[in-house]
Amino acid sequence: MGLNIKGRSFLTLLDYSPQEINYLLKLAADFKSLKRAGVPHDYLRGKNIVLLFEKTSTRTRCAFEVAGYDLGMGVTYLDPGSSQMGKKESLQDTAMVLGRMYDGIEYRGYEQKVVEDLAKYSGVPVWNGLTDDFHPTQMLADVLTIQEEFNDVRGRKLVFLGDARNNVANSLMVVSSKLGMHFVACAPKQLMPKKELVDKCKEIAKETGGKIELISDPSKAVKNADVLYTDIWLSMGEPDELWAQRIKLLKPYQVNQKLMKQAKKEAIFLHCLPSFHNLETTVGLEIYEKFGLKEMEVSDEVIYGKQSRAFDEAENRMHTIKAVMYATLK
Ligand code: CP
Ligand code: NVA
Repeated sequence: MGLNIKGRSFLTLLDYSPQEINYLLKLAADFKSLKRAGVPHDYLRGKNIVLLFEKTSTRTRCAFEVAGYDLGMGVTYLDPGSSQMGKKESLQDTAMVLGRMYDGIEYRGYEQKVVEDLAKYSGVPVWNGLTDDFHPTQMLADVLTIQEEFNDVRGRKLVFLGDARNNVANSLMVVSSKLGMHFVACAPKQLMPKKELVDKCKEIAKETGGKIELISDPSKAVKNADVLYTDIWLSMGEPDELWAQRIKLLKPYQVNQKLMKQAKKEAIFLHCLPSFHNLETTVGLEIYEKFGLKEMEVSDEVIYGKQSRAFDEAENRMHTIKAVMYATLK
């Protein structure tokens, strides 16, 4: 494919054409094969990247680190406690300094504007590792996982159940519209995505053959679905005081076996992770003690069940992030 995205930042999939997204997915599948076959692919030897995390992470951080090392790059990790950013140094100055030392910057944090400003002032490719609005690298892993199951994703129906205005749901709606998928946001009215983004995605979907729907009734929404997707009910950065209200609103949207059965027989389950599906986390235990809920957005049975691809999806974070870094830095 004759596509060239060298030098570009990866801030939201709204900036990428369907062809460019498909190019990255193909590249990710190729990198996955190389990794599985044990073939070295340190094509970016001599380059260096920095990972800035203002929120916690397991998958995204590890995916960037391992992908960076596999590509032969030097990798620096900075958390909020160990850099001057924000407290003693402005974002613009930080970006201007990092751009002098590094070939690429990953950023996870709060406002989307921050990742955009980093790209503006650093002069090097910046990759969005999650903001309050979007989580674009997650989407590539999700679509790669769906492709591995169904080959062609066009026309496939993906239903997101939960807080449908969060970063993951927003990005799923964007990628679905770009790739001609049928996206359903399934949530109570208060937690539906913003109209402005829905309208934008509907416009895009018109050109790609995709479809965007907002449906509050879970049984109706999952009918004929190929993919059921959920995410935690309270995202990073949201106050703990919201748990009570969120649980009340979202309890009917839990993905359990009963709901899975109402989708297509061959449907798969996806979750970006981390997930609250048992009492083996401190937060999960606190919620149980306060609200009597043992499982939240997904049942143990579903996440560990035959239809779950959540852990393939987690692995695919690494292959897809590798593709993004390679394509923008090579
Ligand atoms: N899915 C995801 O972004 O996971 P982390 O928060 O662990 O990076
Ligand atoms: N919506 C979640 C995604 C975590 C990967 C959050 O922002 O916390």
